[in-house]
Amino acid sequence: MLRHPKKKHRQYLYQGDPLAAPPPPELETILERHRGRDDALITVLEEIQNHYGYLPQRQLQYTARELGLPLSRVYGVATFYNLFHFTAPGRYMVRVCRGTACHVNGSRQIIHALKDKLAINEDESTPDGLFSLQTVACMGACSLAPVLVVNDNTYGRMSPESAVDEMEKLKRENAILDAEVRA
Ligand code: FES
Repeated sequence: MLRHPKKKHRQYLYQGDPLAAPPPPELETILERHRGRDDALITVLEEIQNHYGYLPQRQLQYTARELGLPLSRVYGVATFYNLFHFTAPGRYMVRVCRGTACHVNGSRQIIHALKDKLAINEDESTPDGLFSLQTVACMGACSLAPVLVVNDNTYGRMSPESAVDEMEKLKRENAILDAEVRA
């Protein structure tokens, strides 16, 4: 008799409907302000991103349900504009200026060096959640070009090497902070 190889069954653990509970209060407050306004989707997404630092998947699902919109429309708008991000920002938000003064002084090389060093592209975060990389327009510090900003700290007259060194320093600083928290 021909025997069938033993079928493997995947086991799924039903964990309930993740949207069964009402939206968290902070999201409810945002949605409440714009409920019934068909043209408010971009504003809603901006406010969600301002609050969470990015657009969490669950919050987008709540938004679609609560505003009575197809989820595809919410994602369609969110992916159309590159100001929106879908992953949590890293602990260190690294912004490289690509304004004219910084560009002519080598910001492109700095961006390449940081992409290599962090192994990410623009608008991405490292898998350990430590760094996010963005490029931005003139930050008003042209006399210091080329300029790099990490969180609220501005670094002027950078080179690819000094930018990479700063990432190393931040990594070490972060390891020390983590060790202090664990101690
Ligand atoms: S061009 Fe970079 S700070 Fe102005």
